[in-house]
Amino acid sequence: MQTTTDKDNGAEHRFEEGERNGVYRAIYTRRDVRSQFTDRPISNEVLQRLLMAAHHAPSVGFMQPWNFIVIRSDDVKQKVHKAFKKANAREASMFDPQRRESYVDFKLEGIRESPINLCVTCDRSRHGPVVIGRTSSKVTDLYSTVCAVQNLWLAARAEGIGVGWVSILNVAELKKTLAIPNGVVPVAYLCIGHVDHFSPAPELEMAGWLDRLPLNDLIFSEQWGQTPDAIAEDDSTCSHFSIPQIVSDEPDRPSNGKAHRTKRISLIRHASVAENRQHRFIGSTDPKLTDEGQQEAQRLSTLLSNQDFDRVWCSPLHRTRQTLDAIQSQSAPAAELPEAESLDDLREIDFGQWEGRTFDELSRDDPQLVAQWEKDGEAFAFPGGEVIADFRVRVDRILKRIASDDADSFVLVTHGGVIRHLICRYLGYSMSRSLTFQVAPASVTTLEVHGDDAMLTALNVQPLGDG
Ligand SMILES: Cc1cc2nc3c(=O)[nH]c(=O)nc-3n(C[C@H](O)[C@H](O)[C@H](O)COP(=O)(O)O)c2cc1C
Repeated sequence: MQTTTDKDNGAEHRFEEGERNGVYRAIYTRRDVRSQFTDRPISNEVLQRLLMAAHHAPSVGFMQPWNFIVIRSDDVKQKVHKAFKKANAREASMFDPQRRESYVDFKLEGIRESPINLCVTCDRSRHGPVVIGRTSSKVTDLYSTVCAVQNLWLAARAEGIGVGWVSILNVAELKKTLAIPNGVVPVAYLCIGHVDHFSPAPELEMAGWLDRLPLNDLIFSEQWGQTPDAIAEDDSTCSHFSIPQIVSDEPDRPSNGKAHRTKRISLIRHASVAENRQHRFIGSTDPKLTDEGQQEAQRLSTLLSNQDFDRVWCSPLHRTRQTLDAIQSQSAPAAELPEAESLDDLREIDFGQWEGRTFDELSRDDPQLVAQWEKDGEAFAFPGGEVIADFRVRVDRILKRIASDDADSFVLVTHGGVIRHLICRYLGYSMSRSLTFQVAPASVTTLEVHGDDAMLTALNVQPLGDG
C-alpha cells in the first residue's frame, strides 16, 4: 500500500503553516464589497502594494496586457455611476417579476462611497499580433487581465481593504468617460476602500439568491460527466477561517476611526408553546407559552446573570415577549437587561397555510408541494406565506444592524429559524446546513463576532430543570 509522505506533498517547498493559513484566509474571507465602505483614505503605499500584486499576475506569453486607471475624482465617479444606473435598469427588466423584486433591493456597486475606483484594462495589441500562447486562443489576454484583478482582490483582503467589482455598466459609455482608446478593453471596474466589516459570506448567498454549489458535484474524473470518488471536502474546510485565530491579545483594529471590538450576541429561542411539543409548523401563528414554557423562561434568567447587555431586541410575537418578560421578572440572580426594542425582522418565517400542520400531515395531504419545497430550496414560497429567500433578506437586516451598532453585547429573543439563519451567516456556512443545529425552546446560543470573524461560543444551552 502506498502512503503519502510530506515530501510527496511538496513539503520541502511548502510555506510555513502561518503563512499558508494567511493565503487561505485571504481566499476564503475575500468578499465582493458594495455597501460597507468607509471614507478612510487609502495610503499611496498600500495602493502601490495592491497594484504591484496585480502586476505580478500570470499572463499569456508574459504579455502583461493590463493598465490601471486610478479614479479619485467625484466628477468621474458620478459619470460612471450614471452609466451603472442605466445598465442596472436594463438588467432588472430581464428578470421575472418575483426575482426582479429581490434584484432591485440589492446594492450592486459602491462607486461613489469608495475612495478609489480602479479600471483595469486589457491592451489587446500589446507586443504585436503574435504572442506566445495567444495564437490559438485570442481571449487569453483577457483571462490574464482577470488574473491581475484576482491578485489585487486577494492582496486587498490581506490589507483589510474591500474591493467590489462592478460589471453592470455600459462599456461604450465607460470607455468614453475614461478616454480608453480603441483596441483597449475595460475588463474590470473596481471600487476599493476600507470597510467597516467584511460580510461573513457572499452577499448574494446571504440574500438567498444562490447557494455555493457543492464542490464534489463540480469535479469530474478523466472525462466530462464521470464522477470520481469524493476528493473534495465540503465547505467546512474553509469555515474555520471565519473563526478568529488571534483574538485576546490583539489590539482593536482601527477602521475609519472606529475600532472593531468583539461583539457578543446571545440568541435566545422562546420557551415552549404547545405546538412545539406536537412538532407543528408555527411561524406567524401567535400562541402563548404553556405553563411549562413559563417556568422554562424564568429559569433562563440564570443563564444571563452576571452579564451586561447593551441591547435587547425581541420579536413582536407573544411567545418571545413572554419569554423576555419572564426573564426580566426574575429576582436574584436576575439578568440586568436594558429596555427591549421590538424588531419585526426577528419574527419567525411565515409558513402560511402550513401553519399548525405537522410534516407528516403535509407529506400525506400535499406531497407535491413538499417535494416542490425540496426542489425549489430558497425560492420556495410557503403557500400563502413567505418566500424563504425573502425571510433570509429580512433576517440579514438584523446582521447589518448589529454590524453598524456601536454596542458590544446584544440579546436577541427570537425563533428557531432566525437563530439557525444567523448561526450560518456568521460562520459562513451554507444555508443548507441550517438544520444541522439543535436549537431547543428556552435555549441560549452565543456568538462572538470580531469584524468579519465569528466564533460560536455556546450552542443550545438550556437551564437546568427543577428536578
Ligand atoms: C466578473 C465579475 C463581475 C461582477 N460584477 C458584479 C457587479 O456588477 N455588481 C456586484 O454587486 N457584484 C459583482 N460581482 C461580485 C459577485 O457577485 C460576487 O463575487 C459573488 O456573488 C461571490 O461573492 P464574494 O465575491 O463575496 O465571494 C462580480 C464578480 C465578478 C467575478
